[in-house]
Amino acid sequence: MEVVSLQQELRGCTGRSEGAPLALVPTMGALHAGHEALIRQASGHGGTTVVSLFVNPTQFAENEDFDEYPRTLADDLERAEAAGAQVVFTPSCEEIYPEGQRAAQAAAERLSLPDLATSPGLEELTRPHFFAGVCLVVGRLLDMIEPDRCIFGEKDYQQLLVIRSMVEDRRNRFGNVVIESSPTVRAPDGLALSSRNAYLSPEQRVMALGIPKALEVAGSCASIDEAQVMMRQTLVEHQLDVEYAAIRHAEQLAPPKEPGIPLRALVAARLGGIRLIDNCAIQLGSD
Ligand code: PAJ
Repeated sequence: MEVVSLQQELRGCTGRSEGAPLALVPTMGALHAGHEALIRQASGHGGTTVVSLFVNPTQFAENEDFDEYPRTLADDLERAEAAGAQVVFTPSCEEIYPEGQRAAQAAAERLSLPDLATSPGLEELTRPHFFAGVCLVVGRLLDMIEPDRCIFGEKDYQQLLVIRSMVEDRRNRFGNVVIESSPTVRAPDGLALSSRNAYLSPEQRVMALGIPKALEVAGSCASIDEAQVMMRQTLVEHQLDVEYAAIRHAEQLAPPKEPGIPLRALVAARLGGIRLIDNCAIQLGSD
């Protein structure tokens, strides 16, 4: 496995110049079994798999955990290689944002985002800056690496749909890259794996189980209204601060109006300063 930090080094080691198919798995590092499943999916088709490790400053607000975000490079390299990566790209901030971080932040704020990014009542509620930074960095990684496939986890469901929509809207720029999704990987007790789980104390780890429990409870409800009430109640019972607990149209993320459409249950909640999100497909008894 090769580890490179400069865009100009990528061409030499991806096999791209010989026309080998290329898959990209963008990450912020602190790799766990969820990331490994994405890398395995990426490398399952042959060709070359590139994993990018970059803690992207433009998607963190000033009060968020950019400085504390876990950085575990040696372990990440081992995991990436074991899961099937041939190349790990570890760019510096200057490599991704040669114009400087302040100018990059301004560029992010000027981006016209897919409507899904501002779907009311979801991530934009408390992270209005977030998808601008994500779209900026993913756009640059796609420009630099030019993969045929790029893999994202359903764990960050709104992110997956926003990226898919950004790429569809800008085919002139992004060519034919396919945005693939990969199912959420969970701990045996149901908690979705997340790099931020590392912040949880043993007591908080138990309280966090309110999140998968809320999604499970929603699945046994008869109506959208009942499911939303029950999810919120379950989160509160586990002493979680609810940001949202919503049932949405699975593709447009709008509040569902007509019956019979595919639905997604999505939750975000906080435990102290730690923010956790999760979601699942859902079928309700009626509505
Ligand atoms: P990060 O949180 O490191 O996640 C990288 C990828 O791993 C994302 O596509 C995410 O959805 C996926 N992932 C995380 N936990 C998962 C789990 N338990 N099961 C399956 N997939 C999981 O998401 C980001 O980084 C960044 O926003 C990024 C897209 C890299 C842009 O900076």
